[in-house]
Amino acid sequence: MCSVQSKYTQNNNSVIKKINQIENEVKQFLPSSKDDLDYFKIKYLGKNGVLNKLFDDFKTISVSEKKDVGKALNKLKSLVKSKLSFNPERQTTKTFKPEDLTKTVKNNNLGSRHPLAIVEQEIIEIFSSIGFSISEGPEIEDDWHNFTALNTPQEHPARDMQDTFFIQSNPDILLRSHTSSVQVRHMQKNPPPIRILSPGRVYRNEAISARAHCLFHQIEGLYIDKNVSFADLKQTLLFFAKKMFGEKSRIRLRPSFFPFTEPSAEVDVYWGLKTEADYRITKGTGWLEILGCGMVDPNVLENCNINSKSFTGFAFGMGIERIAMLKYKIDDIRLFYENDLRFLKQFSSYL
Ligand code: DAH
Repeated sequence: MCSVQSKYTQNNNSVIKKINQIENEVKQFLPSSKDDLDYFKIKYLGKNGVLNKLFDDFKTISVSEKKDVGKALNKLKSLVKSKLSFNPERQTTKTFKPEDLTKTVKNNNLGSRHPLAIVEQEIIEIFSSIGFSISEGPEIEDDWHNFTALNTPQEHPARDMQDTFFIQSNPDILLRSHTSSVQVRHMQKNPPPIRILSPGRVYRNEAISARAHCLFHQIEGLYIDKNVSFADLKQTLLFFAKKMFGEKSRIRLRPSFFPFTEPSAEVDVYWGLKTEADYRITKGTGWLEILGCGMVDPNVLENCNINSKSFTGFAFGMGIERIAMLKYKIDDIRLFYENDLRFLKQFSSYL
């Protein structure tokens, strides 16, 4: 008795399940033409249609099942009939009522990469193609890595509170003022040959203006090996300028001073003097400064336990904002940090 009953329940359930399945199918039916409706009618109400078959099955089930199954079948039949009263033409005009076009569309903002991320990646790709790899360091630094090891004397102005953010309770700790500190960390841990790029955020105690910000981004480069010369530095930077600003780019190196390089230079790229704006941004010279560089000072190598008699090397550092401003002709550095979508959206094609 017990087993008969369970079989019966299962049977009942499976018929109901089948009806429910068909019901779902019917619910989803949305005719777009009269032909669709004719097809639907034959499929469900035709002589050999789905409903007639179900009613045939109905005859064979037990009396006690009939109540539930019958109810479900009648419900399905009414649903099928209600679908047949559907007028596809009326429905079409309803869906595309002209006033619907004025409805607010669902916001589908894909987002895009930040211009600084785009430029940083571009610089990384250029130097990666000639064997540089990434080395990163902390943004909260100590005095030794940021200044002392880099041959920066105690009285150097960069060590002044006006220029660098020091932690008040411990003046040995600061927010790094440049990514050159990563050179030191890398050289301490890795013997030459070294060929690294260090991108990252840096901090300066500057008044915020169109040209300066208290935080910005730099990329540092360092190459240490036997017999690395100033000519290698120059060719590497020319290669970079051509890839970044176009094959016809020209660069010039102006003597400069950085405590950690000797000799040191600043590099300008030729921008041209075609428009009035070119005169303004190049101060009438046609040249624009893009980075600082030089041969690593032997003192720096020795501070990092590298023998300065056997190894030489060059280093360079550039501001990512500066390169991005030149590349995209942006005249206010603050735009990078305001997250104004009208600004950011202009870079969506660089995804
Ligand atoms: N650290 C310098 C700055 O923040 C940039 C720089 C100049 C980095 C010369 C270097 C270099 O590695 O050789 O202004």
